[in-house]
Amino acid sequence: DKGGHKHFMAKEIAEQPTVIAQTMQTYLGADGRSIVLPGDGVDFSQISRLSLVACGTAFFACMTAKYWFERIAGLPVDIDIASEFRYREPPITPGTVALFVSQSGETADTLAALRYCAGRADRILSVVNVPESSIARESALSLPTHAGPEIGVASTKAFTCQLTVLLLLALKAGHDRGHLSDDALAEKLSSLRALPSLVNTALGASDALKAVAEDLAQAEDVLFLGRGAMYPLAHEGALKLKEISYIHAEAYASGELKHGPIALIDAHLPVIVLAPHDRLFDKTVSNMQEVMARGGKVVLLTDSRGHAAAKEGLWHHAIFPQVSEELAPILYAIPAQLLAYHTAVAKGTDVDQPRNLAKSVTVE
Ligand code: F6R
Repeated sequence: DKGGHKHFMAKEIAEQPTVIAQTMQTYLGADGRSIVLPGDGVDFSQISRLSLVACGTAFFACMTAKYWFERIAGLPVDIDIASEFRYREPPITPGTVALFVSQSGETADTLAALRYCAGRADRILSVVNVPESSIARESALSLPTHAGPEIGVASTKAFTCQLTVLLLLALKAGHDRGHLSDDALAEKLSSLRALPSLVNTALGASDALKAVAEDLAQAEDVLFLGRGAMYPLAHEGALKLKEISYIHAEAYASGELKHGPIALIDAHLPVIVLAPHDRLFDKTVSNMQEVMARGGKVVLLTDSRGHAAAKEGLWHHAIFPQVSEELAPILYAIPAQLLAYHTAVAKGTDVDQPRNLAKSVTVE
């Protein structure tokens, strides 16, 4: 049942305020000031390294989480694509906890990576959307996302729910490791509670993004740029666009532009810049200006302060609510998804069942 939407993907994008709230609710203590994990939980003060492993979109959730854990909790984090990790057979040092992220909980490479870590890592954790899945069952502690069944092949609501759980874990790690006081944690949790309504506001940009998508649908290649935790999202935006619209898309960290991809810039290359008005904004804008100086067509996804500071010469823009640096990656997932969705609809491709793709990759 598509609930009145044209596609499952549209329905699942629209469900995000609700499922993010549901997911968050299960991990918040009754007093609203603490994070409660199932079972015997995790004490992050006893951990020296966190190893995050996943495939595809779930890997980009891990990549985002690295920024959070390092910045909020000072915890060293490794991130790996499961298919590389399992055959590289990396050394697992004492004090390492391994965490596997998967919507289906059945992805073959992720499961194999988990089995490699069993007996080597201090503990095996997972963030999964299917509680009875193999990855959940083989973990010492599995933390469910409550996204509900995801039918569209391109992952949307599962991704933002993974991010929600990972952000809660990073905040818990910050508290456990003495980087956040009780009051500081309570304050972060109270601003986190505004997330579902912020996501709802972001969904309101759908029509503006649809207009952008009609132009994007004409492109053969698209470049996504972001800095900090917007860099993993640039990857997620490029992956979504490739998967469902079949337009070639690439993601770069904004600071890498000069190290190669700037050679691609011409009047035919749309460049999507993810840039909330944060401490890295000016740097990203200077990269954006390098693109515009070479005739590149820029789509700026930002907030009202960002737009006021950098509106000259844009091809398109869309404006999102002002949020903290921590919440931004979850919020900007929405335009990344909507741009891909509307571009695919404009091209007339099969949004829910893109060619060559399976929902769950149970063979390597
Ligand atoms: C992208 C997508 C895939 C999955 C990947 C991992 O939209 O859906 O990249 O994210 O196959 O799947 P799970 O999360 O089930 O392990």
